[in-house]
Amino acid sequence: MFQPDLLKGKVVLITGGGTGLGRAMSERFLELGARLAIAGRREDVLRAAAIEMEALGGEVLPVPTDVRDPDRVAAMADIVWKHFGQLDVLVNNAAGNFASPTERLSHRAVDAVLNIVLHGTFYCTLEIGKRWIAGGSKGVMLNIVTNYASSGAGSAYVVPSAAAKAGVLALTRSLAVEWGHYGIRQVAIAPGPFPTPGARERLVPSASAGDAVAELNPMGRVGQHAELANLASYLISDGAGYVNGEVVTIDGGEWLEGAGEFSHLRSLTPEQWDAMARQARAAKG
Ligand code: HXC
Ligand code: NAP
Repeated sequence: MFQPDLLKGKVVLITGGGTGLGRAMSERFLELGARLAIAGRREDVLRAAAIEMEALGGEVLPVPTDVRDPDRVAAMADIVWKHFGQLDVLVNNAAGNFASPTERLSHRAVDAVLNIVLHGTFYCTLEIGKRWIAGGSKGVMLNIVTNYASSGAGSAYVVPSAAAKAGVLALTRSLAVEWGHYGIRQVAIAPGPFPTPGARERLVPSASAGDAVAELNPMGRVGQHAELANLASYLISDGAGYVNGEVVTIDGGEWLEGAGEFSHLRSLTPEQWDAMARQARAAKG
């Protein structure tokens, strides 16, 4: 789909790059010629991921970090610059989430999500952005949000995540305007359902609920990691140089489903449609 050297010469830092969608993006960026730093809290997970990915070719630097801690975020940036001498792209992908009735949440549960998603993303953005501006470097920041943020609707039962991701989207759009003249682009991807172990363990109550997500989607399926990784590759590439402050939703049209009063009619059989047509025609006469 792309020139094989689309991202050659670029250094990309991906938070949460050792698992799930972060790992999928990492693998694709490597294939397209980028050099990578992957960050996360679990050092063993990061190191194993880096070894496995380097076996496919390319360079992957594991950087254990907790994005909730600004000092550790600064140390992460130091390590990346010391190792590579540059950074071209930051992908804010690290997140925390779980499904729960909101009235069951303690304030610590709210903070657990907000601190990773909103504060963590902000700390990484601030740390890297200041360095780019001070050094006169251009760069791209790609924020991974969710379709319930890009739709503006939020979502019941994941309310801290909905509030935090909406904040990240506001950060994306606000800084697109403020930092555009430095040559720093802000873009976001809003995924719908892309099964990963991290999401399944925290958000899917049963296997049948997972199947229902696919069946209810207008495309009749969930997303494939490669589809998201290709979109991310385009957005961080120079080919997307004039895309700034934009969020691209990739969810098979899921968020639009709730917007149409008649969308549920998709479940009607051809016979039921025939009956509906007969009824409507009869009403006319
Ligand atoms: C209610 C919960 C809870 C739950 C934790 N808490 N899980 N409350 N329901 N399921 C409460 C705890 O009781 C505690 O409050 C507080 O939250 C902090 O818990 P800790 O375990 O100490 O938190 P911490 O170690 O910081 O872990 C953060 C985490 C965890 C978010 C809770 O799940 C995590 O590390 N997640 C990272 C990976 C992740 O979430 N991946 C999924 C991303 S998928 P008290 O009051 O008891 O002390 C995603 C998809 C979105 O974002 C869109 C899908 C379509
Ligand atoms: P995941 O594998 O659980 O990814 C979360 C990653 O964030 C992990 O690698 C985790 O590593 C890291 N992380 C969490 N807290 C951190 C912290 N404090 N500091 C540093 N790293 C931290 O889940 P995923 O499904 O791939 O999600 C990836 C992104 O896609 C998230 O932004 C998520 O909200 C978004 N998304 C996913 C879906 C989906 O269907 N999968 C849908 C919409 C949006 P450690 O635990 O080792 O720190």
